[in-house]
Formats: sequence, C-alpha cells, structure tokens
Amino acid sequence: MEIPESAQKLEVMHLTKVDAGVQLSCQMDDEDVVYGLGEQMRGMNKRGFTYVSDALDDAVHTEDRHSLYGSHNFLILSRKTQPSFGVFVDDPGRVAFDVGETKLNQMVITAGPDCTVYFIEGESLKDIAKQFRRLIGRSYIAPKWAFGYQQSRWGYVNESDVREVVRRHQEQGILLDAVYLDIDYMDNYKDFTVDADKFPDFPGFVNEMKDQGVHLVPIIDAGVKIEEGYPIYEEGVAGGYFCKDEDGEDFVGAVWPGKVHFPDVLNSKARQWFGGKYRWLMEQGIDGFWNDMNEPAIFYSEKNMQKVMDELLALKGKNIDLHGFFHMRDILLGLSNNPEDYKSFYHDMDGVKIRHDKVHNIYGYNMTKAAAEAFDEIAPDKRTLLFSRSSYIGMHRYGGIWTGDNSSWWSHLLLSVQQMPALNMCGILYVGSDIGGFGSDTTEDLLLRWLQFGVFTPLMRNHATLGTRQQEVYQFENVEDFRNMIRIRYGLLPYIYSEYMKAALDDELYFRPLSFDYPEDDHAAKVEDQVMVGESIMAAPVYTQNATGRYVYLPEDMLLVRMKSMENKTCEPMEKGHHYVDVALNELVFFVKKDHALPLAVLDEKIKSTANMEDVSYEWICHGDGPVEYVLYDDDGISKKYVPQKDWKKVIVDK
Ligand code: NOJ
Repeated sequence: MEIPESAQKLEVMHLTKVDAGVQLSCQMDDEDVVYGLGEQMRGMNKRGFTYVSDALDDAVHTEDRHSLYGSHNFLILSRKTQPSFGVFVDDPGRVAFDVGETKLNQMVITAGPDCTVYFIEGESLKDIAKQFRRLIGRSYIAPKWAFGYQQSRWGYVNESDVREVVRRHQEQGILLDAVYLDIDYMDNYKDFTVDADKFPDFPGFVNEMKDQGVHLVPIIDAGVKIEEGYPIYEEGVAGGYFCKDEDGEDFVGAVWPGKVHFPDVLNSKARQWFGGKYRWLMEQGIDGFWNDMNEPAIFYSEKNMQKVMDELLALKGKNIDLHGFFHMRDILLGLSNNPEDYKSFYHDMDGVKIRHDKVHNIYGYNMTKAAAEAFDEIAPDKRTLLFSRSSYIGMHRYGGIWTGDNSSWWSHLLLSVQQMPALNMCGILYVGSDIGGFGSDTTEDLLLRWLQFGVFTPLMRNHATLGTRQQEVYQFENVEDFRNMIRIRYGLLPYIYSEYMKAALDDELYFRPLSFDYPEDDHAAKVEDQVMVGESIMAAPVYTQNATGRYVYLPEDMLLVRMKSMENKTCEPMEKGHHYVDVALNELVFFVKKDHALPLAVLDEKIKSTANMEDVSYEWICHGDGPVEYVLYDDDGISKKYVPQKDWKKVIVDK
C-alpha cells in the first residue's frame, strides 16, 4: 500500500501495515488538542483514551466504554507549532483510535486493509471542519416542528396514554410539538403494524393529535419478527431481502419481538423494499420516525443460544464451583451483541457477498438511508423527521441521531454538552440526548438543568425507559419552572432554526468548542464545559447537583443573559476572563458575543406549539456599541425550498 500523496505532503502520519490492516500514527505535542470522533465518551479533547468505532447497543455509558452506537471516524488534530489537520478514516469495519492512551503523546489509528484515508488541511479549525463537511455532503434538514419540544417515554402504550400526556401538557400550558410512540404501539413488536386494540382508529388519532399541534413519532426497529402470516416477514423471505447465515439461510437473531430476521439494507433492492414499508404509516398521517436497534442489536442468535443451552444443560445436577459459576454467567451475558454472531451472517451488496462484521458500522446508516430514499418518493416535496440510533459519517445526509440510552446522571448532562460539537464536525446536526436521562430515576433539579442545555439542542426530547420515575415535566413540584424553560426554547426558536439552517446550508458547525471561535486564546482550548451555539451564543450550563452557579470563562467581553421566563429577562455586560456566575435552578443563563445579536420570538398566549408561530414578531438581544448585523434565516419550515445564501436576510439591530 502506498502512502497517500496528501499524507506525504503533510508529513503528518506514518503508515504501517499490521495484522488487522493498517496503522497510522503521529506524535502530539503536549498542548495539542484532538477534537471530533462524534458520538463517544469522555471530553471534547479526546486525548488520553482509546475510542473504537464498533457500533454497540450498550445502555451503560460509563467512562471506560470504548464504543457507543455510532462510528464517526473523523478527528482534528489541533496543533500549536505545526499546521493542524483533519483525518477521516473511511472504513465500515472496526477502527481504533488510540489518542494517547498507550503513550501519552502518540496517536495510533488502526483500521482495516481496505480503508480510505483523507487528510484535510486548512486555514483554521473552522476551515478544516468546513472542508470536511463539504466533502461529505449537506446535512439532513428536519422540519421546523421538530425543533419544538418533544415528549417520549418507553411505556406509552395506547391512545389514552398519549392523550393523557398531551392533555397534561396543555393543562399546564406547556408547549409541545411531538409525542413519541415507542415499541408498544406495534402489534407484538412487528414493524409497520399498529396494535388495533390500543389504537382502534390510528389515522383518526394521528389527525386528532395533529389538530392540537402534536405530531406522533413512531419507532421502527431493525429486526423483522419471524411469524407466519405477517406480510413483512413473508415478503422479506420471498424476496430474499434478509441477511443470510453461512449456509445461505436467513440469519436468525432475537430482539424485542423474539426471533427476527434483519433486512439486508446494504442491498439496494432490499433497501428499497424496506424503505417502501414506511409508506403505510405515512399514509396514516405520520411524518416523523426514529430508527432504533440498528447496530443491529442482537439479544441472542438462534445458533449461539442453542450452544449455550447445551452447555448449561450439561451442568444440570452438577456441583458448580466458582469457575463454573462465572463461566455460566459469562456465557449468558455474552449472548448479547456477540462478536462471533456478527461474523456469522452476510450481506449481498448488489452481487458482492460480504461478512457483516466487515461492514458492521454502516448497517444503521443504510437502514436510515432506506427510509430517507423512500421519503423522497413518498413525500418528495416535504421534509420528514428522521433520526437513528446507530450511524456512520454519511448518514448525516439522511437523518439525525439521538445519543442513545444515557442515564439520569449529572455526568451525562456534561457528556451531552461535549458530544454535540464532535457530532457536528461529523455532519450530524440534527441531534440531542434524552433530556433528563433515559435510564435510572431522574430528579427535578437534574431535569431542569438538563432542559437549560436542551433549549439549545436541535432535537429537544425528554425520554425515559420503562420502570423509571415518571419524567414528564408536569410530574414535578415546580411545574412553572419547566413551563418557563420550555417557553424560552420557543422564544429562542427563530435563532435556533436560523443558525441550524445556516449551518446545514453552508456546512458550518452549529455547536463549536470555544477554540474554534477564539483560536488565539490558549485558555479557550482548555474549556471542556462551555460551547458556542450558532454565531451569537455561548452556553455554559450548570451540570453539578446543588450548584447555585458555576465558573465561566469568557474569551472576550460578552453579554450575560439571564432568563427566568420570556417576560423576566436581564442582560449584563461582562468582561473577558474568569467569573463565578450565580445561576438559580429556575434560570437560564447564556452569553452573547460582542457585536452579535439574536432574535427572540414574542410569544402570545395563543401559541401552543410551532404550528401557531408562523407570524411571530421578534424582539432582539443585542451586544454591541453600535448597530449590529444579524443574518436571519427563515423559511416555511416544511418544504425543501430552502432560501439560497444570496437571499439570506440581513437585519441591522440597534439596541
Ligand atoms: C432502545 C432505545 O435506545 C430506547 O430509546 C427505546 O426506548 C428502547 N430501545 C425501546 O424501544
């Protein structure tokens, strides 16, 4: 293998052959910072750990985890004394990024033999990120309603559960744009079915909700239940659309519905077939979907389960000693997402047979592509909400993501702040984490603090798992605080939408680490818990329990904005430097850059969701000595007729 010309020119990484394929390595100086890698654990600066792209369904996101659901093989090495550069390793199989774990100052990337490596140089970190984004294509654009507040929970089972959620939001005056349907809406967890006992008139119900400004967003899982008479299963078998095992039989794994086959979404015919199935739900008024379990998660495979059963049966009646017990436990735990299972089935990539583990990381991508390609046929002129759990760079053109099964932990609130810019660098703009945390019981203060960051994430969804404390905001004592925070989101919506759209249409980052805006400021590169949001805002959320404020670093003079509600807002100029800022539990605090402004929607009582926000007027927050220019993007929020850059509206704001 030849060293790519760009690598030779940059003289940045050494390429060597190893058993697994290739290794790229380079030295880092002490003050160098590594950004990127998308959905991963740990900080904005990725140094000091090994990150592995190997899409994994694992709901315990502790800091020793090397892989989460997505594989985002792009990083930027930001260097002080030499030119910074970006590197993208395009490899759908396993890739490991040892970013100074083995040796503090050495980065080693190990990928498969067929990977393609891109090096990107540029004038600045922003420029490197932008060039990469230009290379990988325009990010997905969600409908405007999907920037409203959204409520989810695994456990809303039927019409009356959903009605109750909507009613209680309305009763409390809490703005709401969507409610999610998790797996229980289906008939026995069968994709593209609706349980008629739970939803006797599904299209009627979808419309009833829409009339109240609420979109229903059903989940679609990767696995198709094996059941005679279930049309999707039968069509899939007849068409040869499922992944095959070594013997050419349809591979059998198990997920929520029990035994399933996995659609071979890497095959164009199967992809078209599976994507076409979304039509049925769209015809019933559905205009948004979340694709789940698409690593694909495998609770167990039929073959491995048989092996394990045999082993366990052989132990029956025996005196099981320490080793025997742990072995038994390990083989049971090892049933799920077993690497051997991923090596035991195959794709037919339009004539090329390929073992799954070699392309594991692009399964979720292709499931989402299947849906997006179908939407282009079913509703070509309209935007459809779509996001996925598993993803790979490139999928950002078809949908967004949510960051999977986090927990109601304060550390996961911080993790969410740190993941956002890294995901944006990889093109994933429509993104958010489960607000309040998915696993474990949330607390009132955690949920409120989380919302104070969630007001800035394009996907602002509260979601929790079965059996945890009820997490809808109306469940808590001080509902008013939640109502105000969510209202503030709608107030900020013109800005959030404008910044999102500009970022998507011009390949910019909506979320950025501070050093991207302040490259000359050495301290900015050390800040791990503040983030730039669009062109005007710096967010510095509180992410520790019982804190009544936090230290904030201002890389320049900024305007501190403190909002208890849309009506109760104060602004205070602050000087560059370190400050301790008080932030009461019921306040949103953020900062506005010098010579920048942002619009706030004036919300009247009529407004219940984005549906009533078409003609809102704006008030402005402005930080400048004189008039300030702001480029305000807006459009109808639903068609694909985006406003070309030359026509973006410049507003001169004078305080
Ligand atoms: C796993 C997903 O990550 C989670 O959000 C969802 O609630 C469960 N699957 C059940 O569908």
